[in-house]
Amino acid sequence: MATTTTPFPFRTALVTGASSGIGEELTRRLAADGVSVAVVARRTDLLEQLATELAGVEVITADLGARRGQDDVVDRITDPDRPIDLVVNNAGFGTSGAFVDLDADRLAAEIELNVAALTRISHAALSVMVPRRRGWLLNVSSVASFQPAPRLAVYAATKAYVTSLTESLHEEARGSGVHVTALCPGLTRTEFQSVSSSEHYAEQFPDFVWTAVEDVAAEGLKAVVKNRALAVPGPAYKAFVGAASVTPRWLLRAASARVQRR
Ligand SMILES: NC(=O)c1ccc[n+]([C@@H]2O[C@H](COP(=O)([O-])OP(=O)(O)OC[C@H]3O[C@@H](n4cnc5c(N)ncnc54)[C@H](OP(=O)(O)O)[C@@H]3O)[C@@H](O)[C@H]2O)c1
Repeated sequence: MATTTTPFPFRTALVTGASSGIGEELTRRLAADGVSVAVVARRTDLLEQLATELAGVEVITADLGARRGQDDVVDRITDPDRPIDLVVNNAGFGTSGAFVDLDADRLAAEIELNVAALTRISHAALSVMVPRRRGWLLNVSSVASFQPAPRLAVYAATKAYVTSLTESLHEEARGSGVHVTALCPGLTRTEFQSVSSSEHYAEQFPDFVWTAVEDVAAEGLKAVVKNRALAVPGPAYKAFVGAASVTPRWLLRAASARVQRR
């Protein structure tokens, strides 16, 4: 018997960090359902490749680590003539290593992208969606947001901010007709591992700990449609997040430090 799926309620979307990994997969899923997607990243060639392959893709080359790139995306989201129904704040990166040994400028750039750009884009999205009483905001956080992560300290701190902000905005948006969701994936094979220099750390984990990028994207979109505050893809990570919420902080810190030392 043929299965039928309900189409997404949004017909236009903007996805940051769409040139690879989770953002690319989100774009493919949305386009497959006929959603028009504005794709944002720095690598224009990869975005243009997506636009050639998929229908309804608009390319926006922007460095979200810079004010100008953030302004371009804010202008596109708030353009009254071309409303965006779904905004996905997905662009982000991490930096692995001992805090004192890492380059301070790189850590500042990480905070600018993961925290500052995401906050400005969330603000722009809600400023047009709330008066419209319609809209969907999906912020990509991480399971790293639920505990400190020695040797990935700034990254985990930025994601703790993203989860906290998004949960607050979810409550503020209650009853407004706007859905706000934090997507918190665990280990997912993308360019993230090479960009963050965390391959050696990541590859120690067995296969069952890895979540497929397709499942992460599907779960994120499902959760924002259902207006869930949090989405944690994969049974292993759901169990981990549940356990982390009742584990004493000292134990969580010690366990996290032990895993990262390996
Ligand atoms: N993979 C995992 O294990 C994992 C786990 C939990 C959470 N996450 C989160 O998932 C999100 C997506 O990461 P991913 O795993 O898909 O990694 P990825 O493959 O490295 O994708 C990151 C995306 O962000 C874009 N980006 C990076 N810096 C940017 C900037 N300054 N301006 C605009 N775009 C920028 C990249 O495009 P350009 O380089 O072309 O600009 C790329 O499209 C991130 O927020 C990450 O923290 C990942």
